[in-house]
Amino acid sequence: MASLTGAARQRYVADLFSRISGHYDLMNDVMTLGMHRRWKGRTAALATQAPPGPALDVSTGTGDLAFQLARRPGADRTVAVDLLPVMIARARNKAAQRNTGKNGQVSLLVGDALSLPFPAATFACATAGFSLRNMPDARQAVGEMARVVRPGGRVALLELSPMTTGLKARLFRAYFHGLVPLIGNLIARDRAAYTYLPQSVDRFYQADELAGILRESGLQQVNYRRLGFGTVCIHWGDKPGGGGHPVE
Ligand SMILES: C[S@@+](CC[C@H](N)C(=O)[O-])C[C@H]1O[C@@H](n2cnc3c(N)ncnc32)[C@H](O)[C@@H]1O
Repeated sequence: MASLTGAARQRYVADLFSRISGHYDLMNDVMTLGMHRRWKGRTAALATQAPPGPALDVSTGTGDLAFQLARRPGADRTVAVDLLPVMIARARNKAAQRNTGKNGQVSLLVGDALSLPFPAATFACATAGFSLRNMPDARQAVGEMARVVRPGGRVALLELSPMTTGLKARLFRAYFHGLVPLIGNLIARDRAAYTYLPQSVDRFYQADELAGILRESGLQQVNYRRLGFGTVCIHWGDKPGGGGHPVE
């Protein structure tokens, strides 16, 4: 199913995330042993090195990365969008239950990453976590993030990264293709969803290729950092113009 393209892929992904939305947070905690929270915190920290201003989290799911952005001093307002109303509803519940940032304020909206409902140059930074893999057109999604970021602003992406060679790659593949579908079956009662997940990683861009897509979208000073034993990457790039950034 990871081989689907275009509208069929978007429909498949929407159906999948609707099915697993209730177990999404627990599955993330179990699969990553809670490390996804730290990775999201690091992504928010990197994104908000841009000059201060409004922050955007695209395909926010249950909102974790958006809530991390809202805690950063550089984000004076945080907006988060997801394609699925059910995910936005879960993020709203979470926001209501916790103090999720400065005044607990994150504006949560239904919206498509491939056609963001914002004018150009609206945000100081834009993030997307674990979602580009699921998009029918990852280039278009990065292009949209670059469009809505102001000159001098930053785009930061957190994503699983394919590993093909070496011992770590073999161990990771055994875990991801062997154990994760079993855990998904046990917790989310959805083996198919958690079989799609490793397949979508295999089909995704290598870290250098994704860095190239950021550059093709007009971003500069593109860089990436591997986390989670090399299984995860944070990519970032800056929109030309504005006052510049601290050196990484
Ligand atoms: C794996 S979840 C990631 C959620 C969250 N960013 C995180 O890191 O936990 C992928 C999310 O992407 C959303 N999504 C998929 N296609 C989308 C699109 N075209 N526009 C906006 N959101 C989309 C799904 O609804 C889902 O919530």
